Amino acid sequence: MTKHWKPLVALATIAWAALAATAPALAESLTLASPDGQITVTVSDDEGQATYAVAYRGETVIAPSKLGLLFSEHHGLERGLAIAGSTRDSSDTTWEQPWGERRLVRDRHNELAVTFAASRGPARRMVVRFRAFDTGIGFRYEIPEQPALEGDLAIVDELTQFAVGEDTAMWYTPSDEFNRYEYITRTGPAGKVANAHTPATFRKADGIHFAIHEAALVDYSAMSLGALRPGTFEARLRSWQGGPKVRTKAPFKSPWRTVQVAPDAVGLINSDIILNLNEPNKLGDVSWVEPGKYVGIWWAMHIKDRTWGRDGIHGATTEEAKRYIDFAAKNGFSGVLVEGWNIGWDGDWFNNGDQFNFTQAMPDFDIAEVGRYARSKGVRLIGHHETSANITNYENQLEAALDLMEKVGVRVVKTGYVADAGDAVRIDEKGIRHYEWHDSQFMVRHHLKVVQEAARRHIAIDAHEPVKDTGLRRTYPNWMTREGARGMEFNAWGSPPNPPSHEAMLAFTRMLAGPMDFTPGIFDLRPNERPPLRPVMPRGDPANRPQTTLAKQLALYVVLYSPLQMAADLPENYEARPDAFQFIKDVETDWEQSIALAGEVGEYVAFARQGRKSKNWFLGALTDEHPRDLTLPLDFLEKGRRYTAEIYRDGPDADWDTNPYDIVIEKKTVTGGETFAVHLASSGGVAVRFLPMAQ
Ligand code: NOJ
Repeated sequence: MTKHWKPLVALATIAWAALAATAPALAESLTLASPDGQITVTVSDDEGQATYAVAYRGETVIAPSKLGLLFSEHHGLERGLAIAGSTRDSSDTTWEQPWGERRLVRDRHNELAVTFAASRGPARRMVVRFRAFDTGIGFRYEIPEQPALEGDLAIVDELTQFAVGEDTAMWYTPSDEFNRYEYITRTGPAGKVANAHTPATFRKADGIHFAIHEAALVDYSAMSLGALRPGTFEARLRSWQGGPKVRTKAPFKSPWRTVQVAPDAVGLINSDIILNLNEPNKLGDVSWVEPGKYVGIWWAMHIKDRTWGRDGIHGATTEEAKRYIDFAAKNGFSGVLVEGWNIGWDGDWFNNGDQFNFTQAMPDFDIAEVGRYARSKGVRLIGHHETSANITNYENQLEAALDLMEKVGVRVVKTGYVADAGDAVRIDEKGIRHYEWHDSQFMVRHHLKVVQEAARRHIAIDAHEPVKDTGLRRTYPNWMTREGARGMEFNAWGSPPNPPSHEAMLAFTRMLAGPMDFTPGIFDLRPNERPPLRPVMPRGDPANRPQTTLAKQLALYVVLYSPLQMAADLPENYEARPDAFQFIKDVETDWEQSIALAGEVGEYVAFARQGRKSKNWFLGALTDEHPRDLTLPLDFLEKGRRYTAEIYRDGPDADWDTNPYDIVIEKKTVTGGETFAVHLASSGGVAVRFLPMAQ
């Protein structure tokens, strides 16, 4: 504080006290409507309590719900609040993504910023900024610099509530269990749910769908939903070990709390609200961030053909890496991931994260030579930094680790944070160990630090066991993809494996957050039935296998968006099925447009996507355990134009359990504007590429 500041503070205090004393006693209520008028937000200060409510076509989506913040050493912003002013704005712009599920994104919204002032205790104020889009709303807290909130601020509670209704159907994963975000999607009436990560998806009895999430999670802790009373959730912010929940200083802005709203399930996945609520690109020219497809020394470890360490058959050898590079070069893949390349993997790597050395390769892996060989073949090595969530150990080596990656030509690093939730190691200046959550403010800061350090070296990040996605890829386009849900690996060793409904759930839940490195494309659908290669490497339970047909594995490339897509299986398994493999070779990962065509949460979903470079259209559809017949309009194709459709669909006898390999691969002529009818087997799918025919 400067010498001249104190008197000013005193004056401001008097002014605010006067304002509070003259604040209108009557409750005020303000309304904001989406540009199409279908969604409304009502903000009120009834009985001194700041609240908001959301309605869709006049029907309640979120009943009046509280707003507010509590601090440990300062008066909170909770009761005794009155609306002291408001401003309005609206905007209709279109911005371009450097890569993404669509090139052009329209941001059309109306805005209402409401200032609430406290009428009891020292003068305090907060602005709650609301934005209403045609596909949902967002709001955030903006706490200006002010005398009563001076100095370090510790948020101990965010009071935001979401009154969703007791009987509203809900799809979610639990937020407070050991496996972070990696759970089979649970369903229930909202009134029976104790806690949930976001995105959490809901359906009201009248068919309106909505989803709660957050956008632009920067230097704050992640929000989950905790039941306050049946059908009303409160924003639960993840705490630092020993508290508080967020360490900050005024002025600050919270992440946006979002409520997407749509008349049907598909409406939810045709929304850009999360990206629109993030700041524009801060990295400038990001032409070095390149979407693509990759293979890697990866599934071999999960199915116990190879080991990460030297205690079995070490996978990451120079020779094996070159075999994958040759395969990648031959088949048009841009990257080769190699896991287990560095010192630290021998033994119990899950618990020995402090042993990881990120600049020293295993003796049988010549990283410089592998990097050189890859580049000579037009392929890039994809780096891997498994940390076992020993964050301090990683941060101590971060710059040198990324320098090495840059030196050997790596353009993407996959990071990993394998550890139970709440077990991320932070060692403080005194050398004391602390254990933090994967979605704490500490980890939110850590991930951004890695992304920014990587950007300085033109490296992109694919984080596994990450914090959830909140759309920061718009601001930092090198944060390309992440895991953050059960991926394919659970089908090798997860008990139980992912059920047939899993991907149809992900499309309407986890994927609302952003891209996922799901690692699709398993062709040997019973990997654990093969005899072990060595007695020390027993295979997993044969019941663990992808519970899908082969055609559904192909559909995943179109349905589950990621700018980096892995062809996860072993090269020899692709070589054994060149006909089906052709689709993986042809499919693209960067899109001009994406349109969700049809679907119901957890049941089925169909997407059409247009390749950004080729302008060719692709279609992917998949179903849960129920076979179904889909008739999809080909309205995305040029009307009346004829196309060759290269179709990969379930055969007549296909069934994920008894006959997963029955696939029909055929070419048909279709015309834009017609419909496309297809049968999906139990846990089946279809993948199509459309090529325009000469006119
Ligand atoms: C878990 C990741 O999800 C997986 O992809 C990786 O192979 C292992 N951790 C080892 O880092």
